[in-house]
Amino acid sequence: MANTEWWHGAVLYEVYPRSFQDTDGDGVGDLRGVAARLDHIASLGVDAVWLAPFFASPQKDFGYDVSDHREVDPRLGTLADFDALVERAHALGLKVVIDQIWSHTSDAHPWFEDSRSCRSSARSDWYVWADPAEGGGPPNNWLSVFGGPAWTWDAGRGQFYLRRFLDCEPALNLHNPAVVEALVQTGHFWAYRGVDGLRFNAIDFLLHDPLLRDNPDAAHAPAPVSAKAFARQAHVNDMMQSGARNLLGRIRGLADAYPGVCTLGEVSSQPGALGRVARYTGDDAGLHMAYALRPLRGLDWHALSRMLSESAVSGERGWPCWSFGGHDEARVMTRMADGCHAKARLLMALLLSMRGSVSIYQGEELGLPQAELEPGELRDPVGLAGVPGIAGRDGARTPMPWRADAAQAGFTDGAPWLPMPAAHRALAADAQESDPDSMLRAYRAFLAWRRREPALRRGALRPLGLQEPLIGFLRSDGGEHVLAVFNLSGETVRASLADFAWVSPCPESGFAAEASGGGATIAPYGALFARVSLAQEWQEEAALSFA
Ligand code: BGC
Repeated sequence: MANTEWWHGAVLYEVYPRSFQDTDGDGVGDLRGVAARLDHIASLGVDAVWLAPFFASPQKDFGYDVSDHREVDPRLGTLADFDALVERAHALGLKVVIDQIWSHTSDAHPWFEDSRSCRSSARSDWYVWADPAEGGGPPNNWLSVFGGPAWTWDAGRGQFYLRRFLDCEPALNLHNPAVVEALVQTGHFWAYRGVDGLRFNAIDFLLHDPLLRDNPDAAHAPAPVSAKAFARQAHVNDMMQSGARNLLGRIRGLADAYPGVCTLGEVSSQPGALGRVARYTGDDAGLHMAYALRPLRGLDWHALSRMLSESAVSGERGWPCWSFGGHDEARVMTRMADGCHAKARLLMALLLSMRGSVSIYQGEELGLPQAELEPGELRDPVGLAGVPGIAGRDGARTPMPWRADAAQAGFTDGAPWLPMPAAHRALAADAQESDPDSMLRAYRAFLAWRRREPALRRGALRPLGLQEPLIGFLRSDGGEHVLAVFNLSGETVRASLADFAWVSPCPESGFAAEASGGGATIAPYGALFARVSLAQEWQEEAALSFA
């Protein structure tokens, strides 16, 4: 039976609350601000808002360092503000997905304070503690994603604790059932409060090898050789443990207690990411959907063809949630589209046409480029540490520009925690409303069309082996086929349509390609979307691949 759950084929909109809308003039966005701007999100035609962390936190990692899982950070609001946000979202027909951070907490979390207090405390083994190696150094060769060893010395306990990210983010010991149970209870707290989905942060980091064995070197040095030491190890012991599958089962059990609540996992970009997405979401004992970070680096024909065939290998198994950008990545407009509006529009169409659900990041709908910050304006500890090969993330986190002619583009009445880039002001949401060629209007048009096409929302995907610079696939659902062909070049290209018995282009997508005489003419960085029926010989082949 076809899956008709809301999340299946849904589009999520990631809100980074600190940078969305400030209502109290402290320069930091808050939950009331998000609620006030939900109309904008609903107007895009997306299905859900995914809220990055708003929990109580020392904010050293801007909310991913949680010190109380059941409280709203006072700078961002209150539980009552959260409830009002959920109510408003639901009134607008939007679902609400929130983050769950299970791999680590803040070092200011009472669990960690108890754990570090002494070796015999109640929560002594709620975190990963280890004695020094011979000679006094860290227990093994594991590395932090953000640079340096993954171990931090704690003089009180006279031991190291594991931390995969910042020093202040000790790793929880999820081999301990009491820890898992405590986290499951926090999930219940929010699901009971009415959220529609839980997004599990960094699921590849949930478990570690309890014997703390060293990681081997990566089999193939990444090319070009990465300045990031982390990329030069094979992460077979510090992360991606097979036991994680059972944990995902616990997570699924938690969600299953609340009809309509979905689970979304964030998989790391370590090798085999798309395979893990398929494995973790392939049956009813895993997550509903998962996504891999950085599945694509740009409009590179070879990389894209590889990605399509890799995702086709898993066929109908699992349910990915695609995203190109987020609060940890340089903005899509700069990193992937080289600042070119047409390329960014093409990337939007590609992202929203893939088989799976989709997550877009605030500001992508405005085509915001990566912000350039002065050294004195940086706030992300990762960027401030200046580790070679590890970029800071502030440039993707600057505030949303709402009104081109307002102070701080309408984000705050005060001094924003990150600057409002001059280039973003011109791209403010209100300035794009009236421009028929704006990115905002392109997103609205494409999303409205996608909603009406079950083949795009939920259909199977079959890649077409097209020649460079074309990439194409067929999305099919219940005998309806939508053809999607993307021109990755700056030249006009003619595509053959000889394989199709009937072709009806879909200009409602916002992409107009002229189709006649057995072919279509596709503009530079343009696309062809068409409803098609298959020629006879294909139908048989197709029946096999769609079975
Ligand atoms: C979040 C990052 C954060 C890291 C450590 C990641 O998955 O997306 O923003 O820095 O977890 O907390």
